Amino acid sequence: MQRHLITSAIPYINGIKHLGNLIGSQLPADLYARFQRARGNEVLFLCATDEHGTPAELAAAKAGKPVAEYCAEMHAVQARIADGFGLSFDHFGRSSSPQNHTLTQHFAGRLADAGLISEVSEKQVYSNADGRYLPDRYIEGTCPNCAYDKARGDQCENCTKQLDPTDLIEPRSAISGSTDLEVRETKHLYLRQSALKDDLDAWIDSKKDWPVLTTSIAKKWLHDGDGLQDRGITRDLDWGIPVRRGDADWPGMEGKVFYVWFDAPIEYIACAGEWADAQDGANWERWWRTDKGADDVRYTQFMGKDNVPFHTLSFPATILGSGEPWKMVDHLKSFNYLNYDGGQFSTSQGRGIFMDQALELLPADYWRWWLLSNCPETSDSEFTWELFQQGVNKDLADVLGNFVSRVTKFCRSKFGEAVPSGGSYGPREDALIADLDARVARYMAMMEAMEVRKSAQELRAIWAAGNEYLQAAAPWSTIKEDTDTAAMQIRLGLNLIGLYAVLSSPFIPGASKQMADALGMADIPWPSDIRIAVEAIDAGHEFSVPENLFAKISDEDRAGWEARFAGIRS
Ligand code: 2FM
Ligand code: ZN
Repeated sequence: MQRHLITSAIPYINGIKHLGNLIGSQLPADLYARFQRARGNEVLFLCATDEHGTPAELAAAKAGKPVAEYCAEMHAVQARIADGFGLSFDHFGRSSSPQNHTLTQHFAGRLADAGLISEVSEKQVYSNADGRYLPDRYIEGTCPNCAYDKARGDQCENCTKQLDPTDLIEPRSAISGSTDLEVRETKHLYLRQSALKDDLDAWIDSKKDWPVLTTSIAKKWLHDGDGLQDRGITRDLDWGIPVRRGDADWPGMEGKVFYVWFDAPIEYIACAGEWADAQDGANWERWWRTDKGADDVRYTQFMGKDNVPFHTLSFPATILGSGEPWKMVDHLKSFNYLNYDGGQFSTSQGRGIFMDQALELLPADYWRWWLLSNCPETSDSEFTWELFQQGVNKDLADVLGNFVSRVTKFCRSKFGEAVPSGGSYGPREDALIADLDARVARYMAMMEAMEVRKSAQELRAIWAAGNEYLQAAAPWSTIKEDTDTAAMQIRLGLNLIGLYAVLSSPFIPGASKQMADALGMADIPWPSDIRIAVEAIDAGHEFSVPENLFAKISDEDRAGWEARFAGIRS
């Protein structure tokens, strides 16, 4: 049995995530976790909410709530929606957990002891009206390059020029609009990533099987321009993990917190501690410490491409720099973006479909299937309502749903609600079994390799093979002359439903359960031999006809949703 540690990038706490966020990390991570569990492997699948940083503070202020209360509420909301989508986390933690406080401060202490932290005095903009320091992107003004009047302190989105807040003409606070700003001197801690450049370079070179998307991004940050830059890991904010050196005070750093991107990936580890505490003291170190049993763990991370630099450089720098035997990532699967109807999904602009809204329209499996089978893997991909309707209607309703419905209904009407006896598999059945044998092997290889789209294609072909068989065997004609052969054909059909239930479970767990329930099978094992799998359910075994596995999306529904989601979510 293999042991798989799987993490999904942890979503920001502010706001409900859209479908682009979902397919960019959590959903493919869930696919892989479900696949590995179904194969009988031991899995620890972790995710959490990313709760610190200015956006969380501002969202709480907007909601008129203390930030801790806002985060607790939003965590519960995100957990409930994740559950609705069938995301099978072993634990859905919080980066604000006490476990993460302790561990983040621990890492900072180890890095300082190793001489990898420097203290830097820098100038930062303070807003008197807001009573706070402003991060660069919360300062707005006129771009000195193109005169765009809403340029941000880090970059002008009109002409893309990188800016410093002091470059802006007539700067103002993006929070309050106040122009009562001053530049103050403040001290911050920097992680000396540059000192670890060679170690990181060698580590990345050792990852021969990583996707090019992942390694090319990492290499760019390592070698372009001046090479790997040291990184500020503290901020002048109220909400966050207080800067401490292990469990000791850090003189001069009072009132400051760690930067959200420093503590967020550490939450992957802390989350295992939260999981263990919730399990009444399970052993989390056997997943994370190579000196305590994690040396045989395979660790896979899932994330959007914008997260890659933090996972290939900053977080590994934190781990390597600690000098402690933490488990490092073995495989890093990154994704491009899913676009929405000719533009981008956007949380800040409320553009697209959000996870809660999607579940109000249709069950999770419809979304899971479409998103995974159209996953933005080798390039960005596009959600349109028309493509969604086509994918759902063709694959789920016409192919899988239709197969299950035809087989079970035909059997009920001609033989009753038990698997019929008589006949035995002949050349047509042998050919189908051989075909399925090859296809299932390919499907498993693709799933193992986390080739999400190719896996979906193969699964669809496995469903279609059943439909084609049924069409060619035509038990409704056979039965007119040869009841035994018709019984055998339909017995194979019922067995195929069992096979489809288990093979499809990583993609569409809800419908898989419905299929297995209809067959009265609680736990169908992952097939190791297709012939054995399609002879597993014997004559006499009772079944029921599943209700409405998949309904088709009508043109009216599609048009209505298209209009409803054309605007902006308030
Ligand atoms: O991009 C994001 O949504 C971040 N909240 C991801 C953090 S992943 C990690 F490092 F924890
Ligand atoms: Zn500009």
